[in-house]
Amino acid sequence: MYRTHTCGELNLSNKGQEVTLAGWVQRIRNLGGMTFIDLRDRYGITQLVFNMEKNAKLCDEARSLGREYVIQVKGIVAERENKNPKIPTGEIEILVDELKIINPSTLPPFTIEDETDGGEEIRMKYRYLDLRRNPLKNNLLLRHRMAQEVRKYLDEQQFVEIETPVLMKSTPEGARDFVVPSRMNPGQFYALPQSPQTLKQILMVAGYDRYFQIVKCFRDEDLRADRQPEFTQIDCEMSFVDRDDVLNLFEGLIKHLFKTIKGIEFAEPFLRMSYTDAMHFYGSDKPDIRFEMKITEITKLAKGKGFGIFDQAEYIGCINASGCAEYSRKDIDALTDFVKRPQVGASGLVYVKYQTDGTLKSSVDKFYSNDELKVWIETANAKPGDLLLILSGQKEKTLKALGTLRLEMADRLNLRKHDVFAPLWVIDFPLLEWDEEMQRFFATHHPFTAPVDEDISYFNSDPTKIRAKAYDMVINGVEVGGGSVRIHQKELQAKMFETLGFTKEEAEYQFGFLMNAFQYGAPPHAGIAFGFDRLVSLFAGLDSIRDVIAFPKNNAGRDLMLDSPSYLTEAQLKELRIKTIPDEEK
Ligand code: AMO
Repeated sequence: MYRTHTCGELNLSNKGQEVTLAGWVQRIRNLGGMTFIDLRDRYGITQLVFNMEKNAKLCDEARSLGREYVIQVKGIVAERENKNPKIPTGEIEILVDELKIINPSTLPPFTIEDETDGGEEIRMKYRYLDLRRNPLKNNLLLRHRMAQEVRKYLDEQQFVEIETPVLMKSTPEGARDFVVPSRMNPGQFYALPQSPQTLKQILMVAGYDRYFQIVKCFRDEDLRADRQPEFTQIDCEMSFVDRDDVLNLFEGLIKHLFKTIKGIEFAEPFLRMSYTDAMHFYGSDKPDIRFEMKITEITKLAKGKGFGIFDQAEYIGCINASGCAEYSRKDIDALTDFVKRPQVGASGLVYVKYQTDGTLKSSVDKFYSNDELKVWIETANAKPGDLLLILSGQKEKTLKALGTLRLEMADRLNLRKHDVFAPLWVIDFPLLEWDEEMQRFFATHHPFTAPVDEDISYFNSDPTKIRAKAYDMVINGVEVGGGSVRIHQKELQAKMFETLGFTKEEAEYQFGFLMNAFQYGAPPHAGIAFGFDRLVSLFAGLDSIRDVIAFPKNNAGRDLMLDSPSYLTEAQLKELRIKTIPDEEK
């Protein structure tokens, strides 16, 4: 037997017992005649004591150990003199009689402590060492518990977990596909699923009624803190339901997770906000509603008074930064630089300070009278001490820039607290988006999303006006899930493909299997997929999803531990009948 107990379970009730423990050496402290070792395993840390007077040889052996050695010890549980109330085993220690080195360890390249000295790169290269640290371990345990609760809730709601293939067919849904060559079918490729979207719809045609899967999805897109090339979805689909059935049932899932995992109860239904309102008031389709600071439009008030930049603008809007009238020239300059960054895209920033003495100070004093500025202040509901930050330009771009500035101000004012959760549904998205560069429509969600019934006639006049029966769940400014009611009629699906610029042949080649299935009695159906990594990182209070994934990739899409992707041998390439183009020829 390697161990009688784990390193996390012994306490005063075990006093006097002889125990055997096994684990990793976390820390060694030599204090005169005594040597203390913190022994660690997944469950916790237990203090081991070696006494020079009692057993000098054993004590010497203990001193010769290194960090991360795997050892086994036998000894007696004793009450500690200096108790540590911070850990469950803090009242006891083990007086060691026997020590066995099971496996020595090379000195790790960083300290395996909660606060480590290792940089991100080195920790990713030695991920197995990083995963020994409490913060990462706790994230993975949280992830496990959340997956269990998801399964429990969905099982109780009659959902069936069904696996779908990873070697699929290329059906681009917005991102690029990862592809896999087929040796047996030279020149042909599988694609890894961006999501099991089409297959879950086919499962509805097959009559499974309520499907779910906690499933890996693959997308070759630019990476960010909340994006990985392979990530996990809680993927779901239901038959004979309308939009509200889906919203209610999955609102239930999120409430269940909050209740069981975080002990937070949401008594009220989640807010439902239209896409139009989200853009108008928050400049984002994933509004962070933990705080107010809504966008106020002042186009009509500010235009036509001789200030060229505003006079030429399609839209002028502002946010009210509460209590920021004291901002210095330097602060305002920093914000101006911020909004001018290419990612934000504004050309400049105008401000009005409503000073605590009631006077106004503005960067556009020359063009507007005090009374005119006062109207802006009132429209934005500003109080003495507040600061209006104003952007102008093309409407959609300016709203988005205001949305980004709003988040920046909230960060500066510490309004985005990790332990406050503000979920909502964003609904009524546009079905289609026009891409200027490509001169074609793209589906805002995906091509299988149903249009709102009364908007169908716009297909022939103005497709941009068609709203979709689509919905996103947003928590704290993060899109944690999205889905839609699907098109289940072959003709409507064909119309959608046509609008998206697919020829009949292209649609048939890519999606023929789905359209065929729809000929054999497709039930009305709808579904949703949650980004599981995003949900877990939100629950863990993290900004990035990387640390809730056991083996993530870096921003260049590389696994630093596996050193992947990597080159294939000539023989492998030949077998696959693939020729690669050297860099210089690209
Ligand atoms: P969608 O593309 O919105 O919908 O994806 C669903 C959710 O998955 C998460 N997500 C990601 N998480 C991490 N890294 C990524 N690269 C990434 N991309 C997406 C997001 C998102 O809300 N088939 C549809 C769902 C449906 O209609 O049922 C789909 O995949 O949290």
